[in-house]
Amino acid sequence: MSRLASSPDPKAAVCASAGNLGQALAHSGRVRGIGVTAVAATSANPTKIDRIRQLGATVKLVEGDIEEARQRARDIAASDNALLVEDSENLDTCEGAATIGLELIEGFDRIDTILLALGGGALATGVGHVVKSLSPTTEVVCIQPSGAPALALSWRVRSVVTTDRTDTIADGVAGRFPIAAVLQDLLAVADHVPLVEEASIKAGMRLLHRHAGLVVEPSAALGIAAILEDSSRYRGKRVASVICGSNVLPEAFSEWIRD
Ligand SMILES: Cc1ncc(COP(=O)(O)O)c(C=O)c1O
Repeated sequence: MSRLASSPDPKAAVCASAGNLGQALAHSGRVRGIGVTAVAATSANPTKIDRIRQLGATVKLVEGDIEEARQRARDIAASDNALLVEDSENLDTCEGAATIGLELIEGFDRIDTILLALGGGALATGVGHVVKSLSPTTEVVCIQPSGAPALALSWRVRSVVTTDRTDTIADGVAGRFPIAAVLQDLLAVADHVPLVEEASIKAGMRLLHRHAGLVVEPSAALGIAAILEDSSRYRGKRVASVICGSNVLPEAFSEWIRD
């Protein structure tokens, strides 16, 4: 990985978020006495936005989607001299995710395949880097929704591909402008980057609820969706999937998991 980690002692921090990074940064800022601003799109999941506020951060909403929020966060960082924490670009976000990889590799004697949701790429590159360093024979599979495929398409052609819009219930991974340095890291660690359909994401959420009693948000079901769409690839293998979020409105969840 080629990017630098952030300065250790900021007074204020700002991030753009679909909701989960904002909560993490709000919590971290509160513990450290750092004022946090999270910028989100007006269309962002209201549960996630409320939780960011409850954790003490200021929330600014912008028209558009996560890409407009990213631009506003950069502007705020420049005007307020705040630390910009950009998901996946800032190495700290990748290293935080990478600890999941350490837990997985240390916790099991053998994992043939690891399934990871792919948004900006922090989770996939962080965990993927650990896995390829400590267990090089483990296959790293990174999954995006067909409705938000920018980084997956970029991985396939080995060059940044942007998209005009996203259309998926998996809001946590729905970006349009991949970061070139993150793509380079993804090219180094990912073995396979499939796209999955919305129906499979819902089916994955349903299965996790029925068989494991888990309430997960759509992005967290991408790994199960990948298995459902390509079961022969995984048959007979010891497969781990990171279930990476549960911030979902109860009404939306009930609707999505209905048969
Ligand atoms: C629910 C959920 N899953 C997965 C991810 C992984 O996304 P990224 O590739 O940006 O690390 C995120 C990122 O915020 C998320 O909120």
